[in-house]
Amino acid sequence: MEEKFLSRNFEIEKAYNLDIFEEHGGYSTLSKAFSMDTDTIISEMKKSNLRGRGGAGFPTGVKWSFMPRDSDKEKYLVINADEGEPGTFKDRYIMELDPHRLIEGCVITAYTLGLRTGYIFVRGELQHAIRRLERAIKQAYEKGHLGKNIHGKGFDFDLYVHSSAGAYICGEETGLIEGLEGKPGQPRMKPPFPAIVGVFGHPTLVNNVETIASVPFIIERGGDFWASLGIEKNGGPKLFGLSGMIKKPGVYEAPCGITVRELLERFGGGMLDGSDLKAFIPGGSSCAILKPDALDAQMGIETMREAGSSMGTGCVTFIDHTTCMVRLATRLAHFYHHESCGQCTPCREGTGWAYKVINSIEAGRGRPEELELLLDICDSIQGNTICAHGDSLAIPVRSYIKTFTEEFEDHIKHQRCPFKPWRTGKSKSKVSSAA
Ligand SMILES: Cc1cc2nc3c(=O)[nH]c(=O)nc-3n(C[C@H](O)[C@H](O)[C@H](O)COP(=O)(O)O)c2cc1C
Repeated sequence: MEEKFLSRNFEIEKAYNLDIFEEHGGYSTLSKAFSMDTDTIISEMKKSNLRGRGGAGFPTGVKWSFMPRDSDKEKYLVINADEGEPGTFKDRYIMELDPHRLIEGCVITAYTLGLRTGYIFVRGELQHAIRRLERAIKQAYEKGHLGKNIHGKGFDFDLYVHSSAGAYICGEETGLIEGLEGKPGQPRMKPPFPAIVGVFGHPTLVNNVETIASVPFIIERGGDFWASLGIEKNGGPKLFGLSGMIKKPGVYEAPCGITVRELLERFGGGMLDGSDLKAFIPGGSSCAILKPDALDAQMGIETMREAGSSMGTGCVTFIDHTTCMVRLATRLAHFYHHESCGQCTPCREGTGWAYKVINSIEAGRGRPEELELLLDICDSIQGNTICAHGDSLAIPVRSYIKTFTEEFEDHIKHQRCPFKPWRTGKSKSKVSSAA
């Protein structure tokens, strides 16, 4: 049984309360961090091989080193707690069950980089998480872990919760910054990156909830130790959210490098009785879909790329034989079209066009040339937009078509969904499966 870190407090009753958190060693890493040289902290973060847990997997220590150290401008910390990716549900566990861990990580991060103000930007729907965080922040102020002269070290840091209005695009870090400034969540062109021009035009560090919640453990045990828990270039354990047609859906902590098969069998309890695994999405809906022959791929940024997809958020959706891939692609395309901020043409028009075409194939009105058309739309979107939102449709849709070509062709050939034989493009009434 591996030692638990990020989920250590999940089973402890009321660990979201400061006294219980402290009873179990909470906030003890602050004094260690305050006694360390800030350059040493950054070097430990680099050594840890911690990769951002928000989906892109950028090395956290390297990102921290991009923050200007000698700037006169006020610098900000922003925690990305937007967690809107379908199939992803890990950060809310930290915020609801162990909010002080995140606050502890924020204080260490702010101390290291000389940040005086932090915002936790939480998806608006996560009201329970918002309440828990606000209460925890109040408790932390009362105990001197936040505010002026923290632990008598002459270091001030204020932390606020900002409730998002609930748009998926506000998870993209510059869309988030716009939202935080009170504007519509429309991503900015990069460069400049937030480390140079972020919130209110000031240098800003944007990190995911799980990323920052990992920081206290790296301070406690050291960067080398954290790196040793994972695989090459992917340090530490992480939270994996498992969902779909499995026996034990939930959030589980496991080391980076674990295979998807192990996640499914050891933690997820295997597929439901009567369900055969048809495919899986390794890290949220924006990742390419994989077939069961990729089950032995390791969860890591590079290893998942080699397997033909990406680790993304590490939240895996297991899909069984009863699922229509065209229907799944339709739902996905609808989501990404609906959530496009509309700022750039390839995303605004492309996602809508892709949705219309897949929807018509699914409804039994598809034409053979439309598969090529769809691939062409995906090519026109990918890499041609201000942010990666368009890619989040293009990458999975292309992979669904390429991995399950026959299923798409069947819909077109028989002008109906083989999974719902009564649905045809010709008639709205139900017809028998032999029709
Ligand atoms: C459309 C879109 C949505 C995103 N949503 C989230 C999100 O909900 N949470 C998150 O942490 N990162 C999200 N990201 C990634 C962020 O832009 C950014 O990479 C991340 O917050 C950086 O933190 P990390 O380095 O700790 O992962 C999203 C990116 C895109 C393109």
